[in-house]
Amino acid sequence: MKHLLKLLDLTPDEIKGILDLADELKAELKAGRAEPRLKGKTLGMIFQKSSTRTRVSFEAGMYQLGGMALFLSANDLQIGRGEPVEDTARVLSRYLDGIMIRTYAQEEVENLAKYGSIPVINGLTDMFHPCQVLADLMTMREYHGKNLTGKKLCFIGDGNNMANSLIVGGLKMGMKVSCACPENYRPHPTVLEFAKAYGEKFSLTSKPEEAAVNADVMVTDVWASMGQEKEKAEREIAFRGYQVNDAIMALANTGCIVQHCLPAHKGEEITYEVFEAHANEIFDEAENRLHAQKAVLVKLLG
Ligand code: CP
Ligand code: NVA
Repeated sequence: MKHLLKLLDLTPDEIKGILDLADELKAELKAGRAEPRLKGKTLGMIFQKSSTRTRVSFEAGMYQLGGMALFLSANDLQIGRGEPVEDTARVLSRYLDGIMIRTYAQEEVENLAKYGSIPVINGLTDMFHPCQVLADLMTMREYHGKNLTGKKLCFIGDGNNMANSLIVGGLKMGMKVSCACPENYRPHPTVLEFAKAYGEKFSLTSKPEEAAVNADVMVTDVWASMGQEKEKAEREIAFRGYQVNDAIMALANTGCIVQHCLPAHKGEEITYEVFEAHANEIFDEAENRLHAQKAVLVKLLG
């Protein structure tokens, strides 16, 4: 594994390897015996979009591993004034040991990896959010046991970066995945093509109450993602009814956990009641960003 651009690129064993190492690093940290496995290493973090969790967990993670992280706002980089990504990649490769990037087009992340000579980590694009889904899978294993085979993951809402990554990650872990998305907001065609090979293990519907039946993990995400602010009003209409609420949770299995990558818009994609009833799981998920990403960093930069 040279980069983390999308989960489609990883084998199930590579994903499990990251999750196992993440469990180990979490235990080490809690026991106060964390090792500086990335001593002297520097990670550059390019942000074209806002972030709380991704920025702070990568920065704290690098520090805990004995290295350092540089926050690079795209507005302040020459990239914001039009310097091509292929030149930026070659320059940054001369200074840094790795790059994390949060941006719009998946292609930009792929190009950074193509032209640079250091590991690149996707910290969210319009298409994928692999770091988040590694943290989600880690959390699912904590609640449901290490073997997720046969467990059912249900995603309700926009067929966005989270939906795309969850479908790939869930199926690769042997889970059944059901998605409920409005007709015009379905997951990416590349992901649907990937899911085809899994036959009945994957299902896509426009009816949340169909997708939710017997779920072991219930996931949702905002109706309008970063960059879609102008579509907010029309999306509020399109997504009415695509809400994780008590009625939806009643269809799921006993012990079903709820995951939300955050930030959440309570009252829209999830009710306040369901969010608070499952807050432990959701904030464990947020915490696990730190541990899962440290595992990715050790694998790629170590
Ligand atoms: N879930 C997530 O990626 O959060 P941030 O946007 O705060 O980084
Ligand atoms: N789908 C959301 C995820 C935020 C972490 C977005 O892209 O804005």
